[in-house]
Formats: sequence, structure tokens, C-alpha cells
Amino acid sequence: DIDRAIRPKQLTEYIGQVPIREQMSIFIQAARNRQEPLDHTLLFGPPGLGKTTLANIIAVEMGVNLRTTSGPVLDKAGDLAAILTNLEAHDVLFIDEIHRLSAVVEEILYPAMEDYKIDIVIGEGPAARSIQLELPPFTLVGATTRAGLLTSPLRDRFGIVQRLEFYSPDELQKIVMRSARLLGVECHELAALEIGQRARGTPRIANRLLRRIRDISEVKSHGKISIDITRQALGMLHVDNAGFDHLDRRLLGDIIDKFAGGPVGLDTMAAAIGEERGTIEDVLEPYLIQQGYLMRTPKGRVATQKAYTHLGIEK
Ligand code: ADE
Repeated sequence: DIDRAIRPKQLTEYIGQVPIREQMSIFIQAARNRQEPLDHTLLFGPPGLGKTTLANIIAVEMGVNLRTTSGPVLDKAGDLAAILTNLEAHDVLFIDEIHRLSAVVEEILYPAMEDYKIDIVIGEGPAARSIQLELPPFTLVGATTRAGLLTSPLRDRFGIVQRLEFYSPDELQKIVMRSARLLGVECHELAALEIGQRARGTPRIANRLLRRIRDISEVKSHGKISIDITRQALGMLHVDNAGFDHLDRRLLGDIIDKFAGGPVGLDTMAAAIGEERGTIEDVLEPYLIQQGYLMRTPKGRVATQKAYTHLGIEK
């Protein structure tokens, strides 16, 4: 993972998400003082906002080990049982894409989360029997794009639920300046702000743009990332003034051109632009909606006046 080196490792290094930072700092301190594991924590929000980073930080701040896995990887009940029985007291188990757990694996999690126990069935048919194993007290940190994707029994078992928000341009500017320092590249404050304004509110995108602009700056200029080279590079990367890439523009453009501005259903839209509906819902739409370019109505998606203006199309 290319972002590893620049990921913050402690809560004090983490920029933005102020309410989450303040709350987690208190919950972690309280758990440590009581010598208990942190309550199970659900992190949700669009990709690239720092859910994995936060899970890492929680383990560091608790002073425990982190075990990482993901919903799609755990396909047999035994896979999860093996991980759970190998944990040490107060460890953090991070399950990314937790909404993609199979039903059988999810069933193992309920008693594990609630009572630190798992029921394992050994053998088959009439000879089958169930044995109960004690687990060390642990913390489950689950990550998902939308809390609504989880079944309610699973969602109900998290004592802490945090929703990650898009970052402001100022916060992203700070993140870019920090990343530039760690990458050993000089970056002008205004260049970092420009990147922050065009990164769709998302640190992963800001850091990716920084790396590409560094490439362009090193080859085409003298190295230090200036506002001029940043604007030029963003043009070359087809990132427009609103921070949209070709896929964002195609989504808005197709709603306007092919569907008279909407309302248009998700599946119709997915077929038109050739993307999966999950990608549209989790990756593309949230930022367009938050920024007021797109509306979700009961009849489907509608492009707003702001979308027409941005694309230079008369309504
Ligand atoms: N890198 C990615 N996300 C970050 C954040 N929230 N704070 C600091 N650096 C980051």
C-alpha cells in the first residue's frame, strides 16, 4: 500500500474529523483507565476518508495488536473462528467491508461480540456436536461505506458508531503539506490548497494528486510544487475546477443529455455510463450530492442547476 508511509499513526497526527477525534480520544482513555477493551466500533463513510487509518490509530492508542481482514475474504465460519481464537486480550480486529460478510460468518460474530464466546460445530449429521470456546476480550472495528448496508442485528452490536465526513479544502491543504513533507518534496501552501480544493473532499485523492503533480513537477519543472505547475498538472490529469474527473462529468452529463436532467433510476444510469450501481452509490454520488450537483429523489436522480452551470449547458 503506497499510502502506508504517510498515514498518521496517532490521533494527534490525524487531521480533520474533529468530532470523531475528540470522542475517540475520550473513549480510548476511559477504556484504558478501566483496563477494558474499547467498545466495538463501526466506522462508515465514502472510500478514502481514513477508516483504515483510524482503525490503525485505535490499536496504537490502545497499545494493542491490530489484526486486519475483510468481509469478502472471510468466506467460512472457521476462517473467522481461527482469527478470533488467536487474539490477545484487548486486541483490535479490523474487518473492512464488513457489510460483505456471509450470513454464517456474521452469526459467529454475534456471540463473539456480545459475550466473547463462539459456538463451533464439529462433525456432521447425528454425530455433530457444538462446543463453546472462550475468547479473549477484544474490540471489533468494522468499516463500511454506508451504515444502512449492515443488517440491524450486526449494527446494534456496535457501542460506538462514527460517520466520517468529507474534508474541507483547508483540512486537505494541511494533509497535503504534511504528506509533501514526509515525501521530501517542497510544496507551496497555495499549491496544497489548490489540490485540497480539487480532491473531492478525500485525503486518498489529495495524496494521489500530490504524487502525480510531483512527477509532473520533477520532469517538467524544477521540483518545488508551485501553484502554476499544480494548475497545469491538474489540467493534464483532467481534473476540473470542481475536482471532478471524467467519470463525474459523464455521470452528470448523461443525466442531462440522455435523460433530460432526470429523474433517472440508478440501474438505468449504471447501464448508461457502464459502471456498477455500487460504484455509483458509494464512490461517485456522495460527493456530487454533498456539493449540490445531484439530488436523490423518490423517482430517481436529478441534476441540479449547479450541474448545468458547471458543464456549461443551458437548462
Ligand atoms: N492522511 C490521510 N488521511 C489523513 C488525515 N485525516 N490526517 C492526516 N493525514 C492523513
